[in-house]
Parts: sequence; structure tokens; C-alpha cells
Amino acid sequence: MRPQRRCVCPGSFDPVTNGHLDIFGRAAALFDEVIVAVGVNKSKSASSNRLFTSDERLDMISDAVAPWSNVRVQGFTGLVTDFCVEIGAQAIVKGLRGSGDYDYELQMAQMNSHLTEVETVFLMTDPSMSFVSSSLVKEVASFGGDVSGLVPPTVLDRLMARLEERRAAT
Ligand code: PNS
Repeated sequence: MRPQRRCVCPGSFDPVTNGHLDIFGRAAALFDEVIVAVGVNKSKSASSNRLFTSDERLDMISDAVAPWSNVRVQGFTGLVTDFCVEIGAQAIVKGLRGSGDYDYELQMAQMNSHLTEVETVFLMTDPSMSFVSSSLVKEVASFGGDVSGLVPPTVLDRLMARLEERRAAT
């Protein structure tokens, strides 16, 4: 039997966007199994640099990837390459939005290939999503801008609720 081809899509996903989902779906068409790997901080609470806790981020991704039977989500700590070896993944799949991403991702891909035999596979972001990032979505939403269409509906609801909580607390 052919060995299972498994890939990891790593990220912080604070929160997951439709740009990420486009990459997960396309990776799911190329690999037998896709593991969305959420970088999990030691701290369990939503820290100042994260809007959502790791459990919340994992939850939101689980909801969003439910339509794909071969995509699952898992938290990880430490090196992404160690996580890949631990779960038997042959590749890391990442989206590239443009040259800024490329410069940063190239260096990481080369470091990861220095550390292990895990390959990095880059998928070009869909042009309709190339301006989307978790940070910009949070910033625009925090100033009342419309980010519907850039994140899944459940993420939009939780984003609005979290920003409202933050506003009420200040
Ligand atoms: O781009 P993001 O979403 O902030 O990525 C976060 C994450 C957790 C995927 C990234 O920081 C990571 O891979 N951390 C694990 C540590 C690691 O492997 N570092 C070496 C990369 S060459």
C-alpha cells in the first residue's frame, strides 16, 4: 500500500482567516492528511499579544475545517520540525502572499530543511486573499471596519464579541 502523505500547516491563527482556509483546502487536495498545527503558548490565557487563547483558536479552526474529512487541528509546542517528525508528516505547507512573505518564509524553510528532511511546499495565495492577514483583520475590526468575508462567520462573531469585551474592560 502507498504510504500516507501527511502535511502540516503551522501558524498562530489568531484568528484563522479565509486566506488560511483556502490554503488548508488546497493542501487537503494534495495530501492524504492535513494537520493544522497551532503554536501553543505556555500561558493558557489570552495574553496581551494574542486576542484568543490557544483553546479558542483550536476551537475556531476545528469548526472551520469540519467540511474536510482529511483535515484536523492540533496544538504544538517547540519546533515545528520536531512536531512533523513526531506525527510522521513529510511536508510543511504554507501560503505565500507576496515577496515579503517569501523573504521570511525562504529563510524558515531552509532552516527547517537543515534541521530535518521535512520539505516545505509553498502555495501561492489566491489573489482575492493576498491582502488578508490575522493582524490586519484584528486592526480593521477594532476600528469598526467590515471584515465579514475575510473570516468564517463563527470567527467573525467571536471576534466582534472579544473586541466588545476588550472595549468594555477599558
Ligand atoms: O507566522 P505565524 O502564524 O506567527 O507562525 C507561528 C508559528 C508558531 C508557526 C511559528 O512561530 C513556528 O513555527 N514556531 C515554532 C518554532 C520553530 O519551529 N521555529 C523555527 C522556525 S525556522
